[in-house]
Amino acid sequence: MAQRKSSRSSRSKSSRSKSRGRSGRKSRSQGTSQPKDALALLRADHEMVSELVDKYERGKNRADNDKKERLAQQICEELTIHAQIEEEIFYPAVREANEEAEDALADAEVEHGSIKKLIEEIEGSSPDSELFDAQIKVLGEYVKHHVKEEQTEIFRMAREADIDLKDLGHELAARKAELKGEEWEEEEEEEAA
Ligand SMILES: [Fe+2]
Ligand SMILES: [Fe+2]
Repeated sequence: MAQRKSSRSSRSKSSRSKSRGRSGRKSRSQGTSQPKDALALLRADHEMVSELVDKYERGKNRADNDKKERLAQQICEELTIHAQIEEEIFYPAVREANEEAEDALADAEVEHGSIKKLIEEIEGSSPDSELFDAQIKVLGEYVKHHVKEEQTEIFRMAREADIDLKDLGHELAARKAELKGEEWEEEEEEEAA
């Protein structure tokens, strides 16, 4: 395990809480390389995973098993971390800020359950298995369905709620880096002067 940079402070309850006014949304955003807000970060994850699945699909008939296994592993890892930061940070924030989100969030969590179960099967399998390609394909279909609902329903509810999406994006990015064992470059947001 790579060493972790502590990002606990950014995960404190207060950083997640809704801004009391309407002004919180635009705070801290003058940098040239602006950190992503929560929805942009999650959307970028969705796109990345679906590109990886497409890449697997395109290459599955000519790639060797090592390559397929590595790609499958990458897909599973990215998805696992993505689901975890949603469940730990994003969903609770939406749940707290928007009462109407409960049903959609419950659906999403059940879908995460199916996705995780399939990930477990893939991780316990290998490209030698006849089912491996089909498992990746079905995983891609689950993800596609889930992402569609998430990005329409849940993202809309997040936008409508009084959530500081910028702050939430910081929190998601920090936790994601922590789970990946990476350093999180908070300095990137320093103002351009
Ligand atoms: Fe997602
Ligand atoms: Fe999700």
